[in-house]
Amino acid sequence: MSDLQTRPLAEPSPLYRQVAEHYHQAIRQGVLGAGTRMPSVRELMQRHGVSLSTALQALRTLESLGCVQARPRVGYFVCDSPQSLLGECSEPDLRLPLHRLDGAEFAGINERISLWLEKSRLAQVRIDLGSAMPAAELFDGAALNRIGAALLREHPEILVQGHSRPGTHPIFQAAMARRALESGVHVAPHEVMSTLGNSEAVNLALSAVAEQGDVIAMESPTFYGLLQAVEAQNLRAIEIPSSARTGLSLEALELAVQQEPRLKAVVVVPHLQMPHGAVMPDAHKARLVAFCEQHNLALIEDDIYRELVDTPGVSRPLKAWDRSGQVIYCVSFNKTLAPGLRQGWMNGGRWHTRVQMLKFAKTRNMQVWAQLLAARCVDSAAFSRHLSRLRGHLARQRERSVQAVARHFPVGTRLSVPPGGLSLWIELPLGVSSSLLFERALDCGIRVAPGPMFSNTGRYERFMRLSCGLPFTPEVEAAYVTLGQLAKAMIAQDPLGLSAA
Ligand SMILES: Cc1ncc(COP(=O)(O)O)c(C=O)c1O
Repeated sequence: MSDLQTRPLAEPSPLYRQVAEHYHQAIRQGVLGAGTRMPSVRELMQRHGVSLSTALQALRTLESLGCVQARPRVGYFVCDSPQSLLGECSEPDLRLPLHRLDGAEFAGINERISLWLEKSRLAQVRIDLGSAMPAAELFDGAALNRIGAALLREHPEILVQGHSRPGTHPIFQAAMARRALESGVHVAPHEVMSTLGNSEAVNLALSAVAEQGDVIAMESPTFYGLLQAVEAQNLRAIEIPSSARTGLSLEALELAVQQEPRLKAVVVVPHLQMPHGAVMPDAHKARLVAFCEQHNLALIEDDIYRELVDTPGVSRPLKAWDRSGQVIYCVSFNKTLAPGLRQGWMNGGRWHTRVQMLKFAKTRNMQVWAQLLAARCVDSAAFSRHLSRLRGHLARQRERSVQAVARHFPVGTRLSVPPGGLSLWIELPLGVSSSLLFERALDCGIRVAPGPMFSNTGRYERFMRLSCGLPFTPEVEAAYVTLGQLAKAMIAQDPLGLSAA
């Protein structure tokens, strides 16, 4: 019997979520009516046997959902407006792989993405809710420019001197190894390799562990760039259901292993999964790493969003559980430090030498200036302050966005509020097609990311990702009003959802 079969099938939600769900249900059912005072943090801790941070996070989740409001120094109270009570996204059946493999069906994501990008490029986009990126003003551009210029003064040869020695700069390696240690990851400096963000890292990882026709387990839904990478390398993706509460389904992964002899790797975003925002519980991470070791599957960890989790430091990467080099760890600073730098790094686990060889064969030398800039920033106390400010801005923007969805979208809209990050994954009511909504919104100058971008299964036609990266201005609020009106008009035309079935 395998390791997984001896354990319970369903992984429980994180504790804070269970507490939030308990009160969310009570508010929806009217047991706790408008204006009712919520239990205090201390009462929640006693009643549910949870820690201070869990109790606080539960209350903040309810606040993000628009269910409760904080009154300074008094406590939390149930909100007045019942329409602000959005249900959570429906969960997939976690026991089965979503999609049996069929070569023909698994082609086409790159074509679809190109089409979407081209349509967006041709349209006059005024409000971009389609790109999961913090607005430029949320980064510290002035500090980056200052440090970048100082580095050029200190190393006047840096842009003109060829670097004959392949490899990553030792200063960058040392800084990344130190930072990784803070999250429980032990990587020797010489095992840190610089990459052009996580796109390059994941591509190199796939090339190192699989060859044409091999099968890669992907979360469903997942970031479309990961599906693109698999398709571009003539690999085949099998989509494994992923829960907005706990992430990748281990039960379904086990079935996939039994069904697919050519399964070589699993690609996972364990923190703030894109698009639904789950943070994988630690127990789940430990089981996933052990399972991949047992079945000799490469575990490619895309850890691009961990620093944007509202409570950083609590979450350790999968790599922290890796004892045998089975985890290929990929980090990017494109969402946290400087999107224009495209600086990332990876550790290839037991495939590290092969990953280095592939990197050298494909792109040769590394850009030293970008590495030194990233190293100097990331190694400073100012970076921690910047991250904490960024998380604060994103939390406020997310909260306003959730409230706008609750106010302006049609009844029956659902969403799962993520514990951090940049985006919201929204389930639209019957009758709304997100592909059509994408087209109609573009005509109004608004860009969204329709559900079918995040899967090859065709299962997410009623889902949509909205970015909360923009400061919540009246123009952004007006875009939510327009999106809500467009969705309501679709329902009026097709109440049974026959065209978007
Ligand atoms: C989960 C995930 N991985 C990777 C990327 C791309 O990473 P990078 O910009 O570092 O290449 C993104 C970008 O949105 C993403 O959401």
